[in-house]
Amino acid sequence: MKNYKTIVLSNQEISPGYYRMQILAPGYDAQARAGQFVMFRVQRSLPPLLRRPFGIFRTGFLAPDCDGMPPKEFIEIVYKVVGLGTEIMQDLHQGDQIELLGPLGRGFDLGAPDEDKILVGGGIGLVPLYMLAEKLDNKARSRLLMGGRTRDDIITVTEFERLGVETYVSTEDGSLGEEGLVTQVLERKLQKYPQATVYACGPMPMLDAVQRICANHKAPLQVSLEALMACGVGACLGCVVKGAGHSEETPRYLCTCKQGPVFNAEELDWRQLDEPQQDCGGCR
Ligand code: FES
Repeated sequence: MKNYKTIVLSNQEISPGYYRMQILAPGYDAQARAGQFVMFRVQRSLPPLLRRPFGIFRTGFLAPDCDGMPPKEFIEIVYKVVGLGTEIMQDLHQGDQIELLGPLGRGFDLGAPDEDKILVGGGIGLVPLYMLAEKLDNKARSRLLMGGRTRDDIITVTEFERLGVETYVSTEDGSLGEEGLVTQVLERKLQKYPQATVYACGPMPMLDAVQRICANHKAPLQVSLEALMACGVGACLGCVVKGAGHSEETPRYLCTCKQGPVFNAEELDWRQLDEPQQDCGGCR
């Protein structure tokens, strides 16, 4: 894990309100694991002071220059503009300075190559699943279920398809793919592939539904949680969630940034999802 100043290589809108940013990031291709994240801070702005967490979409190398220097490494993040921090980010251009801390957190366990795998992503929750799909050994036994409210929320679909992963799209308004919830598709796929391991990332209500379906089918589930984070390294306790077995008498909290963001479903107390969520939106 390193904290350093670096630069934006590109920053493009890929769907209304969704942007993909490429960042110069030496060392990341060898170090970063699927499901990990970075903390990102814009250099030139005073507000917002805090860093923001973003899942790593992918890592790679730029085409080599003709100067004999080794090729430069980059990471890509994909983000949705939802508040002050991401509004500032959408105006960044090639060469702008930023500060990057990472790679951080616990990533996905890739499992055995001979297992069926089902990846479930809702909206911006698709981001950490790309690197996971890329790293899976047996893509022919992997399926990706993408869900969103409208077609604008279905991002990077052709890149997933290029990896050779079977891809299914559903939207709540029927504007792309099947009309309905991604969890309905999951129910059908688990009937077809009852031994599958499920990986999911997306909004909490979607993860809650995924967890119930997987529990009914006794399917192993790993979830990547989205949380507001201030430090990203386990120091501020701003990102805690309740762990399995939590009670007032024996509190059990887990830091999303350090013990997650990827958890096995049975590590979490799913009752907390019935409690009101605090999310001001303006912090991101
Ligand atoms: Fe500070 Fe997790 S963000 S402890």
